Amino acid sequence: MKKITGALIVAGLAASAVAGGTAFAQAKGDPVAGKKVFMRCIACHAVQPGAGAKMGPNLAGVVGRKSGSAAGFKYSAAMQKAKLTWNEATLDKWLTKPSAVVPGTSMAFPGLPNPADRANVIAYLKKPN
Ligand code: HEC
Repeated sequence: MKKITGALIVAGLAASAVAGGTAFAQAKGDPVAGKKVFMRCIACHAVQPGAGAKMGPNLAGVVGRKSGSAAGFKYSAAMQKAKLTWNEATLDKWLTKPSAVVPGTSMAFPGLPNPADRANVIAYLKKPN
């Protein structure tokens, strides 16, 4: 156990939760830390309902939503065709490397290499404040 880093624990919990349902719903990511990670997204994304689109679509309620479905945003042709549902698993892949999940996406962001950053920002997206 001593050798397991915090990041691996978070990734492990996220993996168990995907496999095992909602048992780890509270343990997966830290929304407070996620709010700080979201500083890297905020130039392009608003997260408050009704705040509208910036350079990217509004992300209010994005967890559980179909990809490419925010009102008032013109998605890339690639995203319009992607037909994903955003949940922990798809968001984790997307935020690792957006261009690998939706080749041709207009989201000019290289990705978050740290699994803990991804888990935390996903937790924040579920409950933005
Ligand atoms: C440089 C601007 C930019 C940055 C920075 C950025 N995004 Fe995006 N994002 C976009 C654009 C543009 C799209 C629409 C992509 C498309 O249509 O192909 C998008 C799409 C998305 C989507 C899909 C939304 C939907 O309605 O289907 C999610 C989720 C998302 N971004 C999350 C994030 C997160 C989380 C971060 C920070 C870690 C981030 N983005 C950083 C511009 C950005």
